Amino acid sequence: MKEFSCIITALWLGSLGTAIKPPTTDVVHEQRHPDASSTLIKRWKPHSGLQLPMRIGLKQNNIEKAPRWLMDVAHPTSKKYGKHWTAQEVIEAFKPSDETVDSVKQWLEDSGIAEWRITHSNNKAWLAFEASLDEAETLLHSDYLVYQNTNGRMITDCESYTIPQHLTKHIDYITPGVKGVDITSRLRHHAIKGGVSSGQVRPRGTKLGRRRFKPRKRLSTAPIPKDLSTCDKAITPVCLQTLYQFESLDTTSVVSSNNSLGIFEEADYYSQVDLNLFYAKYAPHISKGWGPELNSIDGGEAPVPFTQAGGESSMDFQLAIPIIYPQKAVVYQTDDGYYSTLENKMGIFNTFLDAIDGSYCTYCSDGECGNDPELDPVYPDSHHNGYKGKLMCGVYKPTAAISISYGKQEQDLPAYYQKRQCNEFLKLGLQGVSIFVASGDTGVGGIPGDGTRNGCLRNGKVFSPTQPNSCPWLTNVGASMIPRGKTVNDPEVAAASEGFYSGGGFSNIFPIPDYQSEAVENFFEISKPRYAYYHNGSYGSSNGLYNRNGRGIPDVAANGVNIAVYVGGSLVTEGGTSASAPIFAALVTRINEERLKIGKSVVGFVNPVLYAHPEVFNDIVNGTNPGCDTQGFSCAPGWVSPYLK
Ligand SMILES: *[C@@H]1O[C@H](CO)[C@@H](O)[C@H](O)[C@H]1NC(C)=O
Ligand SMILES: *[C@@H]1O[C@H](CO)[C@@H](O)[C@H](O)[C@H]1NC(C)=O
Ligand SMILES: *[C@@H]1O[C@H](CO)[C@@H](O)[C@H](O)[C@H]1NC(C)=O
Repeated sequence: MKEFSCIITALWLGSLGTAIKPPTTDVVHEQRHPDASSTLIKRWKPHSGLQLPMRIGLKQNNIEKAPRWLMDVAHPTSKKYGKHWTAQEVIEAFKPSDETVDSVKQWLEDSGIAEWRITHSNNKAWLAFEASLDEAETLLHSDYLVYQNTNGRMITDCESYTIPQHLTKHIDYITPGVKGVDITSRLRHHAIKGGVSSGQVRPRGTKLGRRRFKPRKRLSTAPIPKDLSTCDKAITPVCLQTLYQFESLDTTSVVSSNNSLGIFEEADYYSQVDLNLFYAKYAPHISKGWGPELNSIDGGEAPVPFTQAGGESSMDFQLAIPIIYPQKAVVYQTDDGYYSTLENKMGIFNTFLDAIDGSYCTYCSDGECGNDPELDPVYPDSHHNGYKGKLMCGVYKPTAAISISYGKQEQDLPAYYQKRQCNEFLKLGLQGVSIFVASGDTGVGGIPGDGTRNGCLRNGKVFSPTQPNSCPWLTNVGASMIPRGKTVNDPEVAAASEGFYSGGGFSNIFPIPDYQSEAVENFFEISKPRYAYYHNGSYGSSNGLYNRNGRGIPDVAANGVNIAVYVGGSLVTEGGTSASAPIFAALVTRINEERLKIGKSVVGFVNPVLYAHPEVFNDIVNGTNPGCDTQGFSCAPGWVSPYLK
């Protein structure tokens, strides 16, 4: 800390500068989110000769065509339905065009950055060069400042920057920019001896990655395995079979090697002891010792001794395995002991996506990964217990269906981070991968304390959408429940249980996708929410509580209350949309199994089919998802029922 103090003082050159006024041909390309810097209390101006590692992310070719391409393979009436792409076809389709590369290079050369200084990355996605702070500020009309993050790293970034208007269609984003870059080692070279610093640096709003389940309760009496009379108090495999009308596969069934179910886990681990206890009691057709195949990502390890078992992993596998058995489950156990612990990270899913699609890693600069070093883990990890290998890229083939019960709120991460990730979800959809995500457990709001007192936006009134849920190329699974005293034959209602309400609402970042537009229109028409609203995500400048033209969440729902699970050797009940996602993903895995058996493809991105076929669902018409001091939205007939019109 002493050394750092010296640097601050040495580099504090009086008042903070203001950027040079840009010419009228320039436009602001990126601007920091109004809420993003609220917890930052100390910034300072670095030395004007400081060399910055500039990276220009080029717009991928054809990304605007990608939604249509996805519909070609995912819309039920398309002639190309199910004709998924190979990974190589995806890379070829999206690499930046020559026009993009040439126009941006021309601008740099015209601005005095000689061609020899510019490197073009191997995957063609980035241009890189070194520039002095002065040069960068002149080029981008930006004002760079430095701050120190929680890990003691020095990060430089700016509030906004401009580029020439004609390049906006070619440039994705520039770093350092609104997105900061770690310049610790560069700053040390510039450190001059100095006095003592004043002030304290706090990190930018860091929010935790979260598992989506509510705390467990010990069961005083274990539900009887085949008994349907207690499904309102404890959900067992037979409750789900009756609710959703399916049977187990025969244990001797031949299953396709192309159809496993992958489940993402992070900082939460299953124990084989718990799986064995669960099978013995509630799924005796499954042999002791049967468990998910480990796809360890950047140091993730599983299983663990039962004393270390976690509630999320235990629930995920005890729900999914009995539905898909003898088809296999895969655990994507992600990140090492240092980064996976919640305090140490802000970003989420990028290292996982790198591991199942190598092209996501190379969506980045020369040898530096496309991850955000400020938000994502950096490998090799020199910390104690850190994973010492290189970042894993494309080492596992993605499973046909993937279930994710982790997430954050949209406000926790920059919009560019979420859009880049969302593009990747789309690319996985093109390759035939279905991804199911838990929609969140706090109704229309976030977790209390995330942003505001009650986890809501702005003044604590505006609804806070969940991340990565709002990406339109994922399938969001909300939670339903059997009301107390009711049975598996009664209609389920929206989950509401001791402070847990199914997450749902409308994105501030992503607009309504076509496949959903009719459903959203119906919903507003029928349920008539009485809250003021705004458009285009502009909650900062309105009195509205939600975005009227944002992507709606969730898409579907499945049971998520009072799930009977063995954790650490004890039988407990847990819940959350965390339960709903693996249930739904496991059922889609069964559909994939049947399709593969008759020579068809897996379903891939499944939303267009789901919205076109409401008749296969139970319509949940009762319940609300309170949050932000409101009752939230009310269930209404026909979220996926266009035929009601
Ligand atoms: C699995 O998929 C590959 C590639 O699509 C195909 O060649 C193979 O026949 C499939 N295997 C099975 C068992 O369906
Ligand atoms: C929302 O954005 C669209 C497209 O940029 C624009 O045409 C529309 O006027 C905006 N709506 C509002 C209410 O600002
Ligand atoms: C909705 O559910 C609540 C309890 O969960 C119940 O009291 C009420 O009667 C239900 N209403 C309808 C219309 O089913």
